[in-house]
Amino acid sequence: MKKILLLGSGELGKEFVISAKRLGCHVIACDSYEGAPAMQVADESCVFSMLDEQALRDAISKYQPDLIVPEIEAIRTEVLLDVEEQGFEVIPSARAANLTMNRDRIRDVAAGLDVRTAKFSYAESVEDLMAHAKSIGFPVVIKPVMSSSGKGQSVAKSESDIQASWDYACQGMRGDRKKVIVEEFINFEFEITLLTIRQRNGKTIFCEPIGHVQERGDYQYSWQPQQMNPESLKAAQEMAAKVTADLGGAGIFGVEFFVTKDEVIFSELSPRPHDTGMVTLISQNLSEFDLHARAILGLPIPSIECIEGASAVILATKEGRNPTYLGVEDALGDKGIDVRIFGKPTSRPHRRMAVALASGPDALARARAAAAKISVH
Ligand SMILES: Nc1ncnc2c1ncn2[C@@H]1O[C@H](COP(=O)(O)OP(=O)(O)OP(=O)(O)O)[C@@H](O)[C@H]1O
Ligand SMILES: [Mg+2]
Repeated sequence: MKKILLLGSGELGKEFVISAKRLGCHVIACDSYEGAPAMQVADESCVFSMLDEQALRDAISKYQPDLIVPEIEAIRTEVLLDVEEQGFEVIPSARAANLTMNRDRIRDVAAGLDVRTAKFSYAESVEDLMAHAKSIGFPVVIKPVMSSSGKGQSVAKSESDIQASWDYACQGMRGDRKKVIVEEFINFEFEITLLTIRQRNGKTIFCEPIGHVQERGDYQYSWQPQQMNPESLKAAQEMAAKVTADLGGAGIFGVEFFVTKDEVIFSELSPRPHDTGMVTLISQNLSEFDLHARAILGLPIPSIECIEGASAVILATKEGRNPTYLGVEDALGDKGIDVRIFGKPTSRPHRRMAVALASGPDALARARAAAAKISVH
């Protein structure tokens, strides 16, 4: 039985724990607060901040895990690099966790591999930002190099927006580096997540592309398969294979691309299950969490089958404790609908609390209709 130390215990972690436990693993779920979703289904739990170097070292040395599985970005990844040297195994690799924690590092890797990205530059002051924005050409997207879920991200349409974008980025920054990435605004037709699986004993394989729509930096709904022309899909798969090969290790990666009329552009990547990939809980024979578990355990993945499916998020609207969910009965009355309620102990405006899933024809419209029936109180 493999012992897994899960770093981050949100809704993605929870589904991963269920998949790993079905395959006989023992899981210790870690997060900075008690009662986090994955802790509710794991064998043991441990509460500490994953940005706290000593606490992270102590947890690894206490539990002596066979596999360390990061679920979030905000981890003191230097510790992972260090313990990997000592013989612990980090999924997919300590280098992957370290490089993807910062947008600039993973972007530099992609650019170094000649993967097409939006034109970009870095800025460490508002003057710098103005100069780079002018040379890229407005509108530009500005993002702190360390942040997630769209925090601190904005679009500057002209020179007069630059100061506000800089201030907003500084407020949304994690960590101690005052640094932003400024990039060309891509007027994409649609964007996709290409779930890419690196196997221990097999070739790199892909799920059908997942289409999604984002608001305030968080995904609102996703569907699979996203139709796209075979050449664009092939181009995306080649880029995903190239970048994930460079990062190494085994496991699933969520590789994000923008798709325009004539181009596929690499955006970013998560070396772990992706939130937009929750759709695979209903659209695939093996969900992204099952695939991650199989890949990291070295188990075979003979085939991934996909049917039409969609997911739509259910957000809280206010602060509260031990929330209740109204409308679940109504939502589940429709054929082909399922829900996952994450069991988060507290709510706050826009916090993702649950997801509605639909399979079959018109899955997207039906998932959204189901999500609209459910409210958090
Ligand atoms: N250069 C760009 N041009 C157009 N839209 C963009 C650009 N960069 C980001 N976006 C939009 O903003 C969304 C969030 O951006 P990105 O994925 O870089 O940030 P994030 O904070 O890491 O989000 P998450 O961690 O939730 O995936 C993208 O999915 C896309 O919709
Ligand atoms: Mg993203």
